[in-house]
Amino acid sequence: MSSAIRIRNLEKEYGEVRALDGVSLDVPRGSFFGLLGPNGAGKTTFINILVGLVRKSGGTAEVFGADVEDDYREARNRIGLAPQEFNVDRFFPVREVLEHKAGYHGIPKEEARERADEVLKQVGIYDKRDTRFDWLSGGMKRRFMLARALITDPDLLILDEPTAGVDVQLRHDLWELITDLNEGGTTILLTTHYIEEAERLCDEVAILDSGEIVEVASPEELMGRGPDNITVTLRNPPESAPHLSTGRDRIEDVELSGDDLVITAREGGLLAPELVRELDRKGFEIVNFDISRTSLEEVFVAMTREDDGEERVSAVANGGRT
Ligand SMILES: Nc1ncnc2c1ncn2[C@@H]1O[C@H](COP(=O)(O)OP(=O)(O)OP(=O)(O)O)[C@@H](O)[C@H]1O
Ligand SMILES: [Mg+2]
Repeated sequence: MSSAIRIRNLEKEYGEVRALDGVSLDVPRGSFFGLLGPNGAGKTTFINILVGLVRKSGGTAEVFGADVEDDYREARNRIGLAPQEFNVDRFFPVREVLEHKAGYHGIPKEEARERADEVLKQVGIYDKRDTRFDWLSGGMKRRFMLARALITDPDLLILDEPTAGVDVQLRHDLWELITDLNEGGTTILLTTHYIEEAERLCDEVAILDSGEIVEVASPEELMGRGPDNITVTLRNPPESAPHLSTGRDRIEDVELSGDDLVITAREGGLLAPELVRELDRKGFEIVNFDISRTSLEEVFVAMTREDDGEERVSAVANGGRT
């Protein structure tokens, strides 16, 4: 199946700064794809090259098979972008801004008005249609950016930190809206600093660090690489951490913390039944039993820690410990 985005050896230099250092990436059609990375990793640069706002220094970038420079119009018309920074005509009523945008992309006047009303309703600010942009609240501005991205009914929706600074309610509204769009076939490329957001929404994430792709995998796969923490609360805790014969090849650490026995182990779930039996045999009474997986956030932090590349990758391969 062909890709929505196909990138090969993409490079961007801003003077001395190498913002993208040979990035290759395929974003499958119809996927919900996350682009994660610390501040300055190159995410916005990557996106700006796709939409023609930044000129690449090297490599190739295609959107649905159209080269972003040679077939600029074709590529650009497939994309709806909600950018990180607000770049809006602030003095016009927001509905007019949307109509202009639609007109720019070749949508006839009457249809443009209908589309504008439709997307304003979709993002829940239809009652503000005659208000100018700078009179909207911060959260409404974010909603408006999404409406503007949707006005052309894009096949690829690019969201550059769409939920930065928005309240919990709006964040959930936006999640629902973009999930629906994705289910309807729209390919989504999302950047975010809320790792939970990526974990929840994305089929696949690419981790970008200092202009290089460190990893491409599903959130599940990434989380599976870290160890799990098993916390067993005991009614009759021992003086020191007991020796366990169960799952010795999986267990990385056993600690006693108050009444809790905290066991760090790979694939902790598989260990659980045996562990309960062993503790029972040893005469411990279990009050509570809890398994928590390594979060995507922990994996992300381990991968993008300020080390050199090799240490960074091995840190993740062995579960985030250095
Ligand atoms: N127009 C520009 N001129 C010079 N340097 C730039 C320009 N735009 C970005 N950079 C630099 O390129 C690097 C990547 O920036 P970019 O905005 O792509 O990062 P980002 O991953 O989007 O970060 P953030 O999470 O903070 O939004 C940074 O070092 C940044 O300072
Ligand atoms: Mg950015």
